[in-house]
Amino acid sequence: MTTLKFRNNDEMPILGLGTFRSEPNEVYNAVLSAIKMGYKHIDCAAAYGNEKEVGNAIAEAIHQGLVTRNDLWVTSKLWNASHGAENVIPALHQTLEDLQLDYLDLYLIHWPVVLKKGTEMPEKASDFITLSEVPLTSTWKGMEAALEQGLAKHIGVSNFNENHLKAIMATAVHQPEMNQVEMHPFLQQEELKSFCLQNDILLTAYAPLGSLVDENTKLRLLENDTIKNIANSRNMSPAQVALSYTIQRGVAVIPKSTNESRLLQNLETLNHTLTKEDMALLKDLDKGHRFIDGKFWEVENGPYTADNIWNA
Ligand code: A2P
Repeated sequence: MTTLKFRNNDEMPILGLGTFRSEPNEVYNAVLSAIKMGYKHIDCAAAYGNEKEVGNAIAEAIHQGLVTRNDLWVTSKLWNASHGAENVIPALHQTLEDLQLDYLDLYLIHWPVVLKKGTEMPEKASDFITLSEVPLTSTWKGMEAALEQGLAKHIGVSNFNENHLKAIMATAVHQPEMNQVEMHPFLQQEELKSFCLQNDILLTAYAPLGSLVDENTKLRLLENDTIKNIANSRNMSPAQVALSYTIQRGVAVIPKSTNESRLLQNLETLNHTLTKEDMALLKDLDKGHRFIDGKFWEVENGPYTADNIWNA
């Protein structure tokens, strides 16, 4: 399987299984089936509320001798209510316990947004803490401690813009190695991608299939005519075209599915290659459209807006 190489030459499979919005009762089967098919990379997060079930599936796959721990790449993410240097290791211990693992391959700060302890999703301004009160640099110190203690082999961030990255890079002892952001043909993030490339930061695309439908705009990535035409001419599915485009830009993808045939279809993307002409046509689809728009962080008089998260 094609991989992305980290600074120490560790390799992460470029295609992984996403588990966001995978129901706990479905995710066990999805993860176990995926590993049986040949998936080696599983993307998790404490906030997805299903790490125990993911952990059971990983343990079962290892128990059945399908893979060893060493064959797998497991990523997880620190929730917003556990920012701050002293809170990272305890949160990571909980994730490791839930996943039944001794270490993660990659641990990410989930959002550049801080919530009060115990908050799952915020409802009012007082559920938040500002980045001046708990700076990203403090949380990064906790991430560095996780790395130094061997609890995570690599550390990085998610949903960070260039300025968030610069803030932690200025004082980091261990530089971030990954930024996981939404990315697909409608949101190509060329500037952020160049910045990350220049700074040796790898990228992972979440929602690489466009999360199917935007409830506000009714926009559907996989129903785009250019994507469908390329799919027809190359004997691929629209999902495979979308995934290939991002993979061929050198970015990892973590499509979510709990459906056996779509899991296989997504994995088989790796058997296809788009031509230069296909890539050029897909490049033109960029419209800066976010399916995960960040507006859920906006509450009356709250400190965060979607605009300041993506652009400030
Ligand atoms: P399902 O789990 O029923 O397969 P994203 O990863 O961009 O957030 O997209 C996930 C959504 O896309 C899920 O609703 C998932 O549904 C669906 N999906 C996953 N793989 C495919 C595929 N190959 N073709 C169409 N839809 C897919």
